[in-house]
Amino acid sequence: MTDDTKKSVTYDPSALLMEGTGLSQQDLSDLTPRLLVARREVLDDLELLRAGGDVPQDKQPLDAAFIDLPERLLAEYRREGQASELGRILSAAEHLKALVDRVVVIGIGGSYMGTRSLFEACCHPYHNVLSREERGGQPRIYFAGHNVDNDASRALLDVMGNGRAATSTQERWGIIVVSKSGGTLEPAVAFRQFLDALQRSNSSTPELIPQLVLPVTSRNSNLFNLASALGCETIFEMPESVGGRFSILTAVGLLPAAVLGLDIIRLLEGAAAMTRSFRDTEPGRNPVLDYVAACHLMEEKRGANIRVLTVWQDGLEACGLWYDQLLSESLGKEERGATPLTAVNTRDLHSRGQQHQQGRRDKLITNVVVDHARRDPLPVGHSELNQDGLNDLADKALPDIMAAAIKGTKLAYSEDRRPVADIHLPRADENSLGQFYQMMMLATCVEGRLIGVNPYGQPGVEAYKKHMKQILQGAE
Ligand code: PA5
Repeated sequence: MTDDTKKSVTYDPSALLMEGTGLSQQDLSDLTPRLLVARREVLDDLELLRAGGDVPQDKQPLDAAFIDLPERLLAEYRREGQASELGRILSAAEHLKALVDRVVVIGIGGSYMGTRSLFEACCHPYHNVLSREERGGQPRIYFAGHNVDNDASRALLDVMGNGRAATSTQERWGIIVVSKSGGTLEPAVAFRQFLDALQRSNSSTPELIPQLVLPVTSRNSNLFNLASALGCETIFEMPESVGGRFSILTAVGLLPAAVLGLDIIRLLEGAAAMTRSFRDTEPGRNPVLDYVAACHLMEEKRGANIRVLTVWQDGLEACGLWYDQLLSESLGKEERGATPLTAVNTRDLHSRGQQHQQGRRDKLITNVVVDHARRDPLPVGHSELNQDGLNDLADKALPDIMAAAIKGTKLAYSEDRRPVADIHLPRADENSLGQFYQMMMLATCVEGRLIGVNPYGQPGVEAYKKHMKQILQGAE
């Protein structure tokens, strides 16, 4: 195994190969030609965008620019350094970090889920309660604008001091506000409320406000205009042809990640490596195509229209929720599309586990397993009080127990002929996460093209917005 392979995210569907409730090698071989056509179409979509001509009606919307974005951003950074998009992100992040100890990230959907997943997967699980020194000078981070929950918003405003004067880095806080359309109601309302608190906190230093607010939006959106009126020194523009739920590797996710001190270069390198493998590797060794094949065939042939993504690490729950959005908004159209569901094990073995083991045979379970913990293994340990009977396990550590739980659960599923496959992340770090995000985004697009559903756009989300607006205006 080369060093690179050891660091690669892999997909192993071998446990799905079983008669009766799983797949056969023949099923996979039969699908291969269609899979290759779908890959071609996804890559052609990108070429179509790059050519800059009119996008045919039946392809609209076409938000395929995420595919080669990691490579493009990295190449531009190597060429232009500080003047590149990545260079600007890194220096804006450094500037904000030097000014504040807390940052509120405002956004919803694709402008929120990815950042939260990166934060929870890669940062210390108790990041916000550590001292500034223990956090390595990285600010605490909070999320707002992903709901209109009165009590939650008031509580976060309390945490931010409710307008109390902030005169030192320790007291000061900032805002990263993210909205591609720049007009989504939930984040727009939150921005107004948090900006008001920020202005009151800095009433003696109003000149700081343009440095304390970092907006990410589209040119000429309401948010762009508001940020310009505020005099914001830096406004990050979202690429036009990258959709919200495909935007984790734009400034949407990269800016907050950089503020948290995460290695965004490694994140992009991971994603770029996954795109290369998607382009160049044949089915059977191609995580994206193999994942699509298994999911599609299990749904079509075995009625497994519920896709359980079981993450075996607490910090990956938000990655599961990120994927919930990606799959739901991309393929949940025209009365089609599998239903995603995130489970966290071993926690959910004590809640959903019973149903996954013996409930309806409508589920495909995909484990997300992290091969190496970040920290030293924590042993069970010897104790003079052995009433719990754990001295037999005293020399085992938590990774041993986790490995036994994973293996034991898989054995139990296979005895009951329950379909299960594994995604392996070498570590819960930026590089693995970059690969994972890109794998799932590419897979979602390939599956869309395979079944004839446009993976881009989310026309169904607009309906509630229209009604909500009319209700608020008293028209309904
Ligand atoms: O995937 C999408 O495009 C959506 O989920 C959006 O991200 C979400 O609706 C938020 O939109 P905006 O970033 O325009 O505020």
